Amino acid sequence: MTQAAPSPRFSSAFAEAVHAGLSKRPQKELPSMYLYDEVGSALFEVITALPEYGVTRAEERVLKAHATDIVAALPGNVKVAELGSGSGRKTRRILEALCKKQPTAYYPIEISRTALQLCRRELGDIERISIVGYERDYLAGLSEVSARRNEGERLLVLFLGSTIGNFARLAATKFLQSIRSMLEPGDALLLGTDLIKPLPVLMAAYDDPIGVTAAFNLNLLARINRELQGDFPLDAFEHVARFNPDARSIEMHLRAKRPLTARVRDAGLHVDFREGETIWTESSHKYAAEEVAPIAIDAGFECTHQWRDDEWHFAESLLVAR
Ligand code: AVI
Repeated sequence: MTQAAPSPRFSSAFAEAVHAGLSKRPQKELPSMYLYDEVGSALFEVITALPEYGVTRAEERVLKAHATDIVAALPGNVKVAELGSGSGRKTRRILEALCKKQPTAYYPIEISRTALQLCRRELGDIERISIVGYERDYLAGLSEVSARRNEGERLLVLFLGSTIGNFARLAATKFLQSIRSMLEPGDALLLGTDLIKPLPVLMAAYDDPIGVTAAFNLNLLARINRELQGDFPLDAFEHVARFNPDARSIEMHLRAKRPLTARVRDAGLHVDFREGETIWTESSHKYAAEEVAPIAIDAGFECTHQWRDDEWHFAESLLVAR
């Protein structure tokens, strides 16, 4: 989720990441953040509307049902920073409730300019809101927002949608620690986590019958072809979703259906695939609701409240910086 400057050998951080990930042995991999170019972001929006993918609707239900309680649990005089605002739709409830209490400054932080524009369009009509988008990676944006606050202002950081689930468990705690290092005691983090649920439900959510998730995953190879002069034959790869019981995560892979060699000119790469070999493109970790509080403590927060959706199994937790 953080973008380093590319080494001079590569034209972009994407080219460098593709080189590093596809050179890995024994498991080739690509960072999931690169799933979200314009096509990938549009496909993700479609995923959120699929009947099999309940994450987004569950979070919208929690925020709708508890927006007033959430706002009541916040410190006074808050400004809001959101990590990865997406279209901004899920944030509407909370911002509307907050704006009833106080005029509110909202800082969406996104690497995608298109997403920031969408977000402004979606939320700009809320009364007493002011929106300033930051086209940055999460931590760079948050550090700027945090540094620019006035005396007595508290920060509420929104990290919704269970994006934390796309970090490996240890990396998730480290990421929360990095967020904490940019906050003052009393600042708050509202964290969405998708909860563990029966396997058939999970599998269908990441391998839907009409193939939207497959297209979302395959688009990563199409993006490499488009942006880095690659020649991946897209019809030679298929989407695979697997449950990893040790990590309690759903993994997405792209599996080669036959032996092949792909070239990616701008990543300086010739890469061979055996039949059945995969590229690991994403992990989506699922949590137990009770796991959030101890993780929060490890990261320097206290979990003061948790609101849950029992239909899909999703938790929204309020963590206060200690
Ligand atoms: C953005 N993120 C929380 C989604 C998830 O559920 O891990 C991305 C996604 N991947 C496949 N479907 C949705």
